[in-house]
Amino acid sequence: MTTASAPGKIILFGEHAVVYGRPALAVPVKQVQATATVREDARGGVWVEAPNIGLSAPLADLALDQPLAAVIRSVFSALGVSRPPNCTVYVQSTIPVASGLGSGAAVSVAVIRALAVFLGRPLADEQVNALAFEAEKLHHGTPSGIDNTVVTYGRPVYFTQGRPIKTFRVGAPFTLAIGDTGVAAPTKEAVGAVRALWQAEPARWEKVFDQIGEIVWEARQAIERGDLAELGRRMDANHALLQSLTVSSPDLDRLVEAARGAGALGAKMSGGGRGGNMIALVAPPQAESVARALQAAGAARVILTTIP
Ligand code: MEV
Repeated sequence: MTTASAPGKIILFGEHAVVYGRPALAVPVKQVQATATVREDARGGVWVEAPNIGLSAPLADLALDQPLAAVIRSVFSALGVSRPPNCTVYVQSTIPVASGLGSGAAVSVAVIRALAVFLGRPLADEQVNALAFEAEKLHHGTPSGIDNTVVTYGRPVYFTQGRPIKTFRVGAPFTLAIGDTGVAAPTKEAVGAVRALWQAEPARWEKVFDQIGEIVWEARQAIERGDLAELGRRMDANHALLQSLTVSSPDLDRLVEAARGAGALGAKMSGGGRGGNMIALVAPPQAESVARALQAAGAARVILTTIP
């Protein structure tokens, strides 16, 4: 039997613009995770069990574009396994689905790692990342690759599509309150909505992507200097641009306002948007009161996490 886990993730800055070649910053969130276990199974064939989504079926019965089935088949194909051994791939996750926390990427990474080890062919991170990226295309349509990258490597990343992965230095630890609207919002739809805007008026939205790219760069420098006041201001500025891209929502805006009102240094939506999660930068003494304010404003749950 083999088991592998992968963390959730949160995008600090640069979501959506990252799909158009601008940089973005993301960190793993280790309080939530996906776990995959592969074990021999006397029933015969390959079985897929994912109680979170009510799935229990032989792999052979699952459609080609069923994301979990696709990722399992991609591992067999990458490893040249034409007759897979009888086994069950069991997947569990504490990462809410379609919430901006990288649930799809984490499930893919956990399954790829556990299955490769079960087959006696452990994969290097680079290969895991490449296979998880292929799976992301089923979830997102046109993913930048940031989700699978931060989840695979499990460390902060400064990510630009097609460039080697860079991490960044954190000058002073900082604490985030992550507030969940409780509204599931598939990333694919938000990414598609931004694409429609961009196709209609490319010059206008390229300018917005440039502004977001600059914010990402300034935020990275603020993180390296440990300048939390500036980091908070950059979050507010990034949120305003995401609102102009129509990917925020009344629920996200309410949580962002509640966090700011309770003393957060800055706040923004995170990930695909239109639901899912927002983040607020908090000084440790304010962390609990910001968390309470988010709950009072309707957050389905709040995670406090410190980036060391
Ligand atoms: C999703 O976590 C981040 C987006 O920028 C999409 C992507 O980068 O693939 C919205």
